[in-house]
Amino acid sequence: MTLCEKYTPFTLNGIVGNNAARDKLVQFGIDAIGGKKARPIMIYGPPGTGKTTAAHAVAYSNGLELVELNASDYRDSETLRKKILPLGTTRGLFSKRSLILFDEIDELSRLDSAGSDRVILQLMRESRHPIIVIANDYWSRKVGFLRDAVEKVEFKRPDSGEIMALLEKIIASEHKNVPNGILVEIAKRSNGDIRGAINDLEMMIDAEPGLLECLGIRDRKAEIFRVLDKIFLSSNFDIARNALNSSDVELDMMLNWIGQNIPNKYLSKMPVYEAYDSLSKASMFSEKASRGSYYGYLRYASVLMSSGVSLASNGNVSLLTQYTFPSRISRMSKTKKSREALNRMALKLTSELHANKKTIINEHLPVLNAMINKAIEQYGAEAVQEFMERLYKLDKEEVAVIASYSRFSS
Ligand SMILES: Nc1ncnc2c1ncn2[C@@H]1O[C@H](COP(=O)(O)OP(=O)(O)O)[C@@H](O)[C@H]1O
Ligand SMILES: [Mg+2]
Repeated sequence: MTLCEKYTPFTLNGIVGNNAARDKLVQFGIDAIGGKKARPIMIYGPPGTGKTTAAHAVAYSNGLELVELNASDYRDSETLRKKILPLGTTRGLFSKRSLILFDEIDELSRLDSAGSDRVILQLMRESRHPIIVIANDYWSRKVGFLRDAVEKVEFKRPDSGEIMALLEKIIASEHKNVPNGILVEIAKRSNGDIRGAINDLEMMIDAEPGLLECLGIRDRKAEIFRVLDKIFLSSNFDIARNALNSSDVELDMMLNWIGQNIPNKYLSKMPVYEAYDSLSKASMFSEKASRGSYYGYLRYASVLMSSGVSLASNGNVSLLTQYTFPSRISRMSKTKKSREALNRMALKLTSELHANKKTIINEHLPVLNAMINKAIEQYGAEAVQEFMERLYKLDKEEVAVIASYSRFSS
């Protein structure tokens, strides 16, 4: 479970910032359970500010059954009509009232938007259940048809002080230590995106302070997402390739992001398989190019990872799921310290073992690991530590990295 999931508030009280919005939602909930027909609410504001969380909290706090519409329901107005109009009048499964939620309504693409818009408006008029729609941008053309039908509730970016307080609370309940300067930096750079801030925090926990540069990744997320959108959503050779070529994000970084998100975005098996097939080839060409054999291989790498992945989709793409941060990158940043200790250790042993660093790590390490653990068992960690220090000048961390080495971690 990510920190973000773990610390998602269930109630409106737990929502950081946006007091005015929260008060409106509390009142909306009260009206809803009182059976009063309230105007539907449109929550809008930038990503990561708690819009979805707040809508869920309205349902949770008031015992309303949450009914969430997803992308496939929107395919066309006929599907929408069949799916949603009955919702307005049927009772929930477990409770008397439901909360009908249209999340990220401005991100959905609909085939016949005029028809779908009418169905949604009809639902709003007829529904016995309260309705919340969420949009990123109140002024988006896609939500224009709704503006007269809803009460608007704006979510603003919370300020960095509010985010800072939340981060401190999380750190405390995780019993972790992150230097204050880093928290300040995370809060500042998040630019009001709480989700982003918590994700950054997770990355920085247990990491070296020097890893602050990882946060730079955040600033480029918007750019990365733009390219990912073009690749995953277009299924068009040129659009995907041009998006990648026109961006300044390194291919290797993009490879990680694409690889992480293929299963999030593609809904059926063959596209996932084919996308990974293209991506793996892209990865081989990129590796070859970086080893210096032939720079022109990069051409194939970039086409395979953009257009190749894009064409693998058969249009059956999830519009709603969000991109996740490549776990490889966050893992690498977390293990940076121990990888460094591993390298230092190997370097110190090169003359003793008459082997180079790579051989020591790949071949000797498993044996050293077994020997050290046996010795620790017999003589205790401290004695072994002293011995290794005296003989090979290995410090505590370097001995630890041998002792904890496992073949399956890298
Ligand atoms: N105002 C907030 N208070 C507390 N946590 C928040 C807040 N906003 C976002 N979060 C955290 O970020 C995550 C994502 O928030 P979410 O509600 O999905 O944002 P949005 O829908 O506005 O993009 C939540 O799971 C929660 O952990
Ligand atoms: Mg959301």
